Amino acid sequence: MTQGPGEPILKVEHLKQYFKTGRAELKAVDGISFEVRRGEVFGIVGESGCGKTTAARSIIGLYDITGGDIWFKGRRIATGIPDMKKRIKRAQKAGSRAEAALLSETLRKNIEEARTSKRSGIMTGMQMVFQDPVASLNPRMTVREIIAEGLIISGMRGKEEISLAVASALEQVGLLAEHAGRYPHEFSGGQRQRIGIARAIALKPELIIADEPISALDVSVQAQVINLLNELRRQMGLTLIFISHDLSVVKYFSDRIAVMYGGKIVELAEARELFSRPAHPYTRALLSSIPLPDPYYEKRKQRLTYNPVSGRGCGGEPPQLREIFPGHYVSCGRAEYERLAAAGAEK
Ligand SMILES: Nc1ncnc2c1ncn2[C@@H]1O[C@H](COP(=O)(O)OP(=O)(O)OP(=O)(O)O)[C@@H](O)[C@H]1O
Ligand SMILES: [Mg+2]
Repeated sequence: MTQGPGEPILKVEHLKQYFKTGRAELKAVDGISFEVRRGEVFGIVGESGCGKTTAARSIIGLYDITGGDIWFKGRRIATGIPDMKKRIKRAQKAGSRAEAALLSETLRKNIEEARTSKRSGIMTGMQMVFQDPVASLNPRMTVREIIAEGLIISGMRGKEEISLAVASALEQVGLLAEHAGRYPHEFSGGQRQRIGIARAIALKPELIIADEPISALDVSVQAQVINLLNELRRQMGLTLIFISHDLSVVKYFSDRIAVMYGGKIVELAEARELFSRPAHPYTRALLSSIPLPDPYYEKRKQRLTYNPVSGRGCGGEPPQLREIFPGHYVSCGRAEYERLAAAGAEK
């Protein structure tokens, strides 16, 4: 399948990632759907433990996903086998043989499609910058080895060619070619994150998933890394998924933002829209925690806290992501949807 202009570079549908913890199942990501458009910065924001990293790792192919489907550049790259097997079993139990056969055939086809895509080398087009620059760089490898690893896996063999690619990636992130012979511990936090970024861009990806790329860094270098990512995006025409627990960081950087809570997306909208008309109580609580440089306002400001039990938005039925205004999605029940859409129309 080829991709036409304007098609999403990444499509995630009903993605689930469950972990077995003893006898229980931890629903780290529980049925999220979104599309990322070519060239945009797509922000994912939410508190610690809401499933951001798990979602990123699932998309990049580090986990076998529990449920849902993922497409990259129009090609299926993952399908949730356990979920589908459950559906097949359910159909068999209910005696619907035809349905079970149909589901089995779909599963077989989906697995084959994902395998073929992966074998085609498409996955190098998607790279991740990891949350913790210390843990994600092997301390026993030189910077050259760290950056070259992906190049070699993707088929690059010539020593000269690899050296040139490593030097060019280092220069692109503001480091020197001479740094290639050093080890990660010889660098500052900010520089280490630059190495992580160099490793990602060396493969000339089209999509980078940056998982809290600045949260482990000193405030003074955070802006430098943000500027670097912006600069690279412009130069390389990258699409970026930018993950953060801090809405104020995502705000200035993202075209659209998805707010996650408890493994689900509770709100998704263009950045400006989300800030001017936040509809979900959790988004409002997040917004109320952003400090403004105005002591008078800050003194009187009411901090909202989100309590999912008493929180509005469900009206008794299970909430689902609904489009309350064009492009603005909120997780809510039908009654809440009607109230929100009507309130928006009055504005
Ligand atoms: N490999 C794993 N095995 C079991 N549980 C996991 C695993 N990875 C993550 N979890 C759990 O899944 C939930 C989501 O974790 P995740 O790391 O995705 O959150 P996060 O939103 O990235 O948080 P943070 O902002 O702290 O990075 C957490 O409860 C976490 O403990
Ligand atoms: Mg994380």
